[in-house]
Amino acid sequence: MADRKATLTVEGLDKPIELPVYSGSAGPDVIDVRSLGAEGLFTYDPGFMATSSCQSAITYIDGGKGVLLHRGYPIEQLAKHSDFVELCYLLMFGELPDKAQYKDFAGRVRGHTMVHEQLANFFKGFRRDAHPMSILCGVVGGLAAFYHDHLDITKQEDREISAIRLIAKMPTIAAMSYKYNVGMPFNYPRNDLNYAENFLYMMFSNPCEDYEINPVFAKAMDRIFMLHADHEQNASTSTVRLAGSTGANPFACISAGIAALWGPAHGGANEAVLNMLDEIGDDSEENIQRFIDKAKDKNDPFKLMGFGHRVYRNFDPRAKVMKETCDEVLAQLGMADDPQLKIAKRLEQIALEDEYFIERKLYPNVDFYSGIILKAMGIPTNMFTVIFAVSRTIGWISHWHEMISDSYKISRPRQLYVGHTQRDYPAE
Ligand code: CMC
Repeated sequence: MADRKATLTVEGLDKPIELPVYSGSAGPDVIDVRSLGAEGLFTYDPGFMATSSCQSAITYIDGGKGVLLHRGYPIEQLAKHSDFVELCYLLMFGELPDKAQYKDFAGRVRGHTMVHEQLANFFKGFRRDAHPMSILCGVVGGLAAFYHDHLDITKQEDREISAIRLIAKMPTIAAMSYKYNVGMPFNYPRNDLNYAENFLYMMFSNPCEDYEINPVFAKAMDRIFMLHADHEQNASTSTVRLAGSTGANPFACISAGIAALWGPAHGGANEAVLNMLDEIGDDSEENIQRFIDKAKDKNDPFKLMGFGHRVYRNFDPRAKVMKETCDEVLAQLGMADDPQLKIAKRLEQIALEDEYFIERKLYPNVDFYSGIILKAMGIPTNMFTVIFAVSRTIGWISHWHEMISDSYKISRPRQLYVGHTQRDYPAE
């Protein structure tokens, strides 16, 4: 498998160490350092700046060129021609489904949208004002208690059923966490609706009146789900893989992923963008410049939320599609002059022309515009990251499935120890 060799010379070692170098189908080559442990050496890479943690065939990102491919298909083409359920099939099984496969898969997902009736009791244990992400972490973790009939992770069939249950139930649980928050009754899913329509229905309908689904919102929602579906070894996906490497059940692993996603540097950024736009308040030139200056000030913890990415050193291709969708939704709603949209556009323009952001290759990421769309659709800010979690569940579970289907080892990083060496407990 090794295409080339790397030779490592370490001062103090008698002979150089030869390490195999592997090439993937695209992207940088990797040096296999696994044999270093036997030489009494570890590599040191906090934050995984240059470490591949696994082999994967699901998603490829070329951060320099701003390219994102799922199973080889560019995200722009998928966003235009496909839909979220088809993308779920593609990520999970590796190929686009034919018509019969699509129908069967969509039917299987629909068949699992309800949650166990007793799960509703979980919600009652939370304060009404609990952040829906905390509810999501708890409730999803608890799913294993209800669906232990198919938890043998060594069986392909069980893995698939758990995956479908998760994809199907996440919108139901997400909508329940919202309804609980606002003190309204939970809605049962409606299996005559598609994935995005059903989510909007569960969020916004109530037993007292008819609810008509806005097709523009449903399309935008489906696109938001697609654009967040997977992003190779990001922090939450790596968390899911790490938890899964212990043999933990998939519901527990996804709950771990949800916890990792919550942070403002990751999925929490969409909520943080809206809070930032609120804080900026008005779109006057001086005011926006003041916030740009704050973001550049090393003594100020403020960062431009929705800007920058560990992998992209160019436009995030998802942000481009998101911006188009944002324009479509706001135009349809007659909100093209929305003050927050104006601030966002001006902020983007100023930042893209500013030396600080140019030098560091900081561009808007997927979260920069998604919040504005979600807000325009009436979704409260604290639900933004929950929606990200609903979308990313397919990415997480596909990576988990890929890992378990292959040979894998428990993920167990090593460390550079800098604490005390052995010392004696003080005698009296
Ligand atoms: N505003 C101002 N400066 C920034 C920003 C920003 N948003 N992002 C990075 N920088 C600066 C950073 O201070 C550093 O400057 P210097 O070289 O002078 O020390 C330089 O750019 C490199 O940044 P970094 O923090 O070393 O990069 P990273 O790869 O560790 O972090 C990131 C990536 C996404 C956490 C970071 O860019 C960030 O915090 N962005 C804002 C939060 C955000 O929008 N997150 C969503 C990411 S996309 C969706 C997702 O994956 O969940």
